[in-house]
Parts: sequence; C-alpha cells; structure tokens
Amino acid sequence: MPEITYTPYDATQEPRQLESIRTLISTDLSEPYSIYVYRYFLYQWGELCYMAMDEGSMIGVVVCKLETHRGGPMRGYIAMLAVKERYRGKGIATNLVKMAIKAMIERDADEVALETEITNTAAMRLYEGLGFLRSKRLHRYYLNGNSAFRLLLPLKSQQELGQRYHEHEHEECCEHEHGKHEHEHEHESVHSKDD
Ligand SMILES: CC(C)(COP(=O)(O)OP(=O)(O)OC[C@H]1O[C@@H](n2cnc3c(N)ncnc32)[C@H](O)[C@@H]1OP(=O)(O)O)[C@@H](O)C(=O)NCCC(=O)NCCS
Repeated sequence: MPEITYTPYDATQEPRQLESIRTLISTDLSEPYSIYVYRYFLYQWGELCYMAMDEGSMIGVVVCKLETHRGGPMRGYIAMLAVKERYRGKGIATNLVKMAIKAMIERDADEVALETEITNTAAMRLYEGLGFLRSKRLHRYYLNGNSAFRLLLPLKSQQELGQRYHEHEHEECCEHEHGKHEHEHEHESVHSKDD
C-alpha cells in the first residue's frame, strides 16, 4: 500500500475538503449531520482537524473543538472520527487522534472528552489505548437507542486545574465588578443530552 500522509484541514480548500469529510463521516454515522454541523466545527476549530490521505484521496479524518467547559477546564472535544473501511487496523485513527490531542495541548487544553457507542469495540480500544478513562455511561444517548460512554483524557494535574479554576473565579469576580457578566452558552456536543 502506498504511504499514507497526514495533513491539517486547509480552509482555502473548503469546497473540496468539506465534501470529502462529509462523505467519509456520513458513511459510518447512525445520525447524519447537516452541513451546518461540519461548518460549526471547521470554521471555528479547523486547526484541530486532521486528514489522512492516500494519493490525494481522503481516507481518514478527525474533527474536534476546544473551549472552556462550564467556566472550568479548557476542554478539547473529539466530535467525529472515521477511517475508510479498507484502511482500518493500521493505526491511522490512532495517528489522527494523537495529532489532534497534540494540537489541543499546544493550545493549553486541560482535558479531552468524547462520546462513543458502548458497542464500538474499535473506538473503545483506540481511546482506552491512548489513556482515555470512562467517565460516564449515557443511557440511550443516540437516536438509534444505543447508549454511549463519555471518555475523558486528563492532561493536567489536579493542582494545575485548581489553579485555572481560581484564575477563572477571579476573572468572573472582576467582570461582575464592571457589570459585564454574560451567560455562557453550553454547546458541548452537537447531540449532547447530559454532562
Ligand atoms: C474506530 C475507527 C476510527 C478506528 O480506525 P483504525 O484506523 O482502524 O484504528 P487503529 O488502526 O488506529 O486502531 C486502534 C485500536 O483499535 C483496535 N481496533 C481497530 N479495529 C478494531 C476492530 N474492528 N475490533 C477490535 N479492535 C479494533 C486496534 O487493534 C487498535 O488497538 P491496539 O492498539 O490495541 O491494537 C474505525 O474503525 C472507524 O472509522 N469506524 C467507524 C466510525 C467510528 O466508529 N468512529 C468512532 C466514533 S467515536
């Protein structure tokens, strides 16, 4: 098999790349996403999207985001991951996820989260192999009635997280003082029902 190359998403190539990403992801999805969901992630966090290519053709992709979670930790979120069927089992998804996590760490992420169907053995092995821990079981999480695990990869010590929380409290208090407090919009997952 020719060598697989890895490349970050390039917004200047949007029409072509977005279409390839949609095709790749929608093949394996039980709940198809609208174009707006892809745009939501890629417009804001395109630098956290990585693609695996074989001779110009996209054969794997990971799509993510990174934002403050409920005023606390800076949380990376792996929203979509897929590898074309005949390329599976070669470590391609592992490489893509590692690249995304590295990009999140460079942007000061405290942790990384995701959900996956409890029956998805390949995804569970992949993520647990990378150190993700089962943080919650989400009953009937998907539209097809299947349940999910929320997996969490802590990237920082409790001490570092405590420090960040303290900083946040201080910022909030100062915002209150200046009458600028705004409600934060919780937008964890495109289909998040729980936390
Ligand atoms: C999940 C998926 C992305 C894995 O891609 P991949 O490139 O085959 O994964 P890797 O080759 O990096 O394998 C990672 C681990 O999963 C294991 N694995 C891969 N396919 C497996 C399978 N069918 N059954 C059991 N384990 C499997 C590998 O053995 C490896 O574990 P190891 O390091 O202990 O050997 C791919 O199967 C896929 O696209 N599935 C459909 C979409 C999907 O489920 N996405 C995840 C949503 S959270």
